[in-house]
Amino acid sequence: MKSLKLSILMTMLIAVLTACSSEDSTSAASDESAASASASSVKAIEFVDTQESKPLVIDAALFDTPQAKEFLATGNNPYLGNEEAIAKGKKVYQLYSCTQCHGPEAKGQVGPGLTGPNYKYPKNSTDKGMFETVWHGTNGGMGAKGVGLMDPTDPKNGITPDELLKIIAWVRSMGNPDPAAS
Ligand code: HEC
Repeated sequence: MKSLKLSILMTMLIAVLTACSSEDSTSAASDESAASASASSVKAIEFVDTQESKPLVIDAALFDTPQAKEFLATGNNPYLGNEEAIAKGKKVYQLYSCTQCHGPEAKGQVGPGLTGPNYKYPKNSTDKGMFETVWHGTNGGMGAKGVGLMDPTDPKNGITPDELLKIIAWVRSMGNPDPAAS
């Protein structure tokens, strides 16, 4: 009798211990699954080219600043209205020869004006749309990433996503067509 009680006690003890340790392991497992869920479900917008609206794959690793990552996740350009980014964007615009075709004020030269509100490609009133246009070019004389200094076959050469977001912030600051559209 005594030994039966003892064995019941032991069983209960073991049950409690297992419960504890399995609780530990469940919580560890759920931590793990939460981590892997957030890693695998990194939210990213889907880019399409401006020519045919075909999927445009851009290596996520190129989005290497917090702002570029935010854009990749949401399609919003965090640099809009940011004076420092706008000033940098203007420099990058000049550096990558956008000036030659679109003019120093982005009001147009050989190429069209970029300040809107009317665009040849209406999607350029959104930041995602303008990003895609500049990244991939168009059919009508606008090379990928503005070609000139850039080699469009090498994604590491030329404008980075972060720089392009700054260019767009500058272009928008020159006469924003419709901020609500971005
Ligand atoms: C060699 C000249 C040239 C250069 C350099 C160039 N562009 Fe263009 N861009 C054009 C032409 C031409 C068009 C019109 C394309 C069309 O009709 O398909 C255009 C179109 C665009 C559009 C779409 C305008 C609209 O109305 O829809 C944007 C945005 C743009 N360029 C941004 C840029 C930026 C930013 C740069 C610099 C990184 C740049 N371009 C460099 C010639 C150029």
